[in-house]
Amino acid sequence: MPFTIAIDGPAAAGKGTISKAVAAALGYAHLDTGLLYRATGRRVLDGLEPLAAAQALVAEDLARDGLRTPEVAQAASRVAALPEVRAALVDFQRAFARRQGGAVLDGRDIGTVICPDADVKLFVTASAEIRAQRRLAELLAGGHDVTADQVLADVRERDARDMDRADAPLKPAEDAVRLDTSALDIDTAIAQALAIIRTRQG
Ligand code: DC
Repeated sequence: MPFTIAIDGPAAAGKGTISKAVAAALGYAHLDTGLLYRATGRRVLDGLEPLAAAQALVAEDLARDGLRTPEVAQAASRVAALPEVRAALVDFQRAFARRQGGAVLDGRDIGTVICPDADVKLFVTASAEIRAQRRLAELLAGGHDVTADQVLADVRERDARDMDRADAPLKPAEDAVRLDTSALDIDTAIAQALAIIRTRQG
């Protein structure tokens, strides 16, 4: 049976970096499901209807440059509130989770909706202020012209929309293990995630 790891949490909590490192350490495939919503949001910004945009996604869309901007993140969060868009993306994510050799999926609803039977579920959090600081550093390093206040407002707006939507809101699954990375450097966060997973693997 393939081993499936679900890693959920709010924006910039560290789940992307943790997921990538965990997948590399275990030799599993990794899917950043936020990219599906970002690529859909990008196409909507380009003028497509949301459902048509989600249905038209192909693998190359996920590798497109420019999906990591604040504008695309907000567009992703908006299309992610549409049930028809979420429904159009379910099969792809579940098929990925069933891959032989194991899979790590990270997002907002992996443990609750996409893979309720995942072998391990992590819910990675950090305070909004810490997450905004991390995102600011990433954006500045990427050459984006943003201020700390803008990034914090952006993180809070996205958190609120992702948590308050009716369909598949951001929340920990009942059987998720919480990992608060506020006071952890990234290497320690990765080590703790791996320790939790290895305990579950027996
Ligand atoms: O993880 P991210 O920041 O790349 O995600 C971008 C947006 O996509 C996020 O604000 C909400 C949405 N999303 C979602 O609703 N469900 C997921 N599984 C992943 C992302």
